[in-house]
Amino acid sequence: METFNFPGGCYEVMRRGMRDATAEADFLAAYLPPGGRVLDLGCGTGTTLRALAARGYAGTGVDSSAQFISYAKEAGDPGVEYVWEDVTRFHTSTVYDVVTCLFGTLNLVPYADLPGLLTRVASWLRPGGHLVLDAAHLLNFVDAYQPAVVTHHRGDGLLITRLARQVLRPLDGAWINDETLLVRGTDGTVSMYENTFAQTVLTGPEIRGLLRSSGFTIVEEFGGFRKESPAPSGRGPLITVARVS
Ligand SMILES: C[S@@+](CC[C@H](N)C(=O)[O-])C[C@H]1O[C@@H](n2cnc3c(N)ncnc32)[C@H](O)[C@@H]1O
Repeated sequence: METFNFPGGCYEVMRRGMRDATAEADFLAAYLPPGGRVLDLGCGTGTTLRALAARGYAGTGVDSSAQFISYAKEAGDPGVEYVWEDVTRFHTSTVYDVVTCLFGTLNLVPYADLPGLLTRVASWLRPGGHLVLDAAHLLNFVDAYQPAVVTHHRGDGLLITRLARQVLRPLDGAWINDETLLVRGTDGTVSMYENTFAQTVLTGPEIRGLLRSSGFTIVEEFGGFRKESPAPSGRGPLITVARVS
């Protein structure tokens, strides 16, 4: 089943309320040389690459959502290319200064595919280049768990009501998100989209172990894109910066 198959404009509105795009772009820019190149795996609608292009960086975005890639291409900047592809099937001979995978996108890749993907990522980085990974870990899932969540997101003339149902499959380590989006426009139109996706639940040690066994050395870990320290309890975001060993 194709996931994230709804208009990119709706995702942009919801993302604005959930993420600090400026902090994310500032964080990534700190690992890029002037005019450097970034590869964004699971780039969504290209939000991060657009923010980086505005700072003078080029790059590539890869995403499996046709609608998101189409939005990104239309809103795109010179110097940024977008590829409609599953990250597990993506190959490139280009070498990047930074490879990133944000907003839990790595969790959307089945566990069995992670070692191969991360090993390929290591080969796409120039010597001294960095992987910036923002993967959800077990405590993020546990803390955020609610059997059903209703949130409202307003912007760009849209009111989006998101109904999310969450189911845990403990023996698979999979967290199923079954979302319904009701999108109301100021012109009175109402559209409805279904978005169901499985997330691979990873613990902090598993994320570190996967990186190390794929050829990375962990350089730094943060609890947020403003370079906050990770919480001693292990709660909150985990941003991992790694370099090829
Ligand atoms: C939560 S969104 C995050 C998007 C983007 N990283 C951001 O920060 O806005 C997850 C994205 O991963 C994409 N995705 C999920 N599985 C994928 C896969 N196997 N290959 C490529 N993209 C994938 C979805 O289409 C969606 O755009």
